[in-house]
Amino acid sequence: MKRIQYHRYGGPEVMRLEDFEPRELGAEDVLVRVRAAAANPMDFGIRDGAMKMMTGRSFPRGMGYDFAGVVEAVGADVTRLRVGDEVLGGAPIKWSGAFADVVVAEHKGIVEKPANLSFEAAAALPTVGLTAYQALFNKGKLQPGQAVFVHGSLGGVGRAGVQLASAHGARVAGSCRAGSADEARALGIDPVVDFDFDAAALAQRFDIVFDTVGKLPIKEARKMLSPNGRIVSTSPSPANIARSALPGPFHAVIAHAVTADIEAVARAAGDGHLELPIARTVPLSEAVAALTDLERNGSSKRGKLIIVPG
Ligand SMILES: NC(=O)c1ccc[n+]([C@@H]2O[C@H](COP(=O)([O-])OP(=O)(O)OC[C@H]3O[C@@H](n4cnc5c(N)ncnc54)[C@H](OP(=O)(O)O)[C@@H]3O)[C@@H](O)[C@H]2O)c1
Repeated sequence: MKRIQYHRYGGPEVMRLEDFEPRELGAEDVLVRVRAAAANPMDFGIRDGAMKMMTGRSFPRGMGYDFAGVVEAVGADVTRLRVGDEVLGGAPIKWSGAFADVVVAEHKGIVEKPANLSFEAAAALPTVGLTAYQALFNKGKLQPGQAVFVHGSLGGVGRAGVQLASAHGARVAGSCRAGSADEARALGIDPVVDFDFDAAALAQRFDIVFDTVGKLPIKEARKMLSPNGRIVSTSPSPANIARSALPGPFHAVIAHAVTADIEAVARAAGDGHLELPIARTVPLSEAVAALTDLERNGSSKRGKLIIVPG
C-alpha cells in the first residue's frame, strides 16, 4: 500500500511516495479504496505546517483530503455505508491521507457518489463544493432571486459558488483575471469584472459578496452590499474569525464535514448543476512531481489536479 507522506513539515521537497499501513478503523470510520483524489491549496499549507496546532507533531503524515472510491470496510457503528458502495468524500484534516491507494475517513464526511459521475469528477467536488455550499447557504442564507458577487469566480471554490448559486435561482456577478472574462461569461456570470475592479461602481447591488480568495478588502465589499447583505470570506485568519463573532455583515466560512451538506453538493453534480474542470490527471507514482509543479508554477484556471491509482 502506497501513499504520499512527509516526515516533517516543510515545502514540496518533504513529500515522498512510500509504503504505509492504513490507520486502525474506528467505530465511525470507513476504509475506502481510492479511485481518484484531488489537490487543493490547503494540502500545501497544511504540509507547510500552517495548521500544526490542529495537525500535531506525529509523523509520517499523509497528504490529501478529497477522494472518490469504493468502500472496503466500515467501522462497527457505520450503518449508512456498505462495502462495495461507490463514494466521494474528504479525510479529516487531523489525519488526511487521500493521495494513497486506500484512505480511512470518518463516515460523516463520505456520501454515495452519483452513478453518472466518474470517480475523477467526483473527487474534484468535496472541499470546494462543501466550502461554497456552506458559505452561500449556512453563512450567506442565500434565497432564490438574490444577487451574489463571487470574487475569484474561476477558482475551484469560485466556480462551485457560481454554479450552486445559479442553480438556486440567484443572479451571479463576479471577478476573474483580466483575459478570462469570456470563460466567466460562459459560466453565466454577469457582469464580469477584473480582480482590481472599482467596488463603488457596483455599490449596493449584492445580497452576498462571496470572497473566495480572501483578498477583497472588507471596506470595499461593504460598499457592494444591499441593505442586510452579507460578506462571506474563505480566509479563516484569526482577525476574520474574531470579526465573524461580532454583529455585522461579515462571516468567515470554515468548511466542516456535515453529511447533508456533502450530499447536497453531490446531488447538484449528479443533476448536472455543478462541474469542476479537470486540468490534469496523473497516476500516484507521478503525483509528487505534479503536486510540486502545481504548487510552484500552477494556476488553478485550467481546473483541478486529479491523482489516480498507478
Ligand atoms: N475556509 C475554508 O474552509 C476553505 C476551504 C477551501 C478553500 N479555502 C481557501 O479558499 C481559497 C480558494 O481556494 P480554491 O480551491 O478556490 O483555490 P484556487 O482554485 O487556486 O482558486 C483561487 C482563485 O483565486 C484567484 N486569484 C488569484 N489571485 C487573485 C487576486 N489577487 N485577486 C482575486 N483573485 C485572485 C485565482 O485566479 P487565477 O487562477 O487566474 O490565478 C483563482 O481563480 C484558498 O485560499 C483556500 O485555501 C478555504
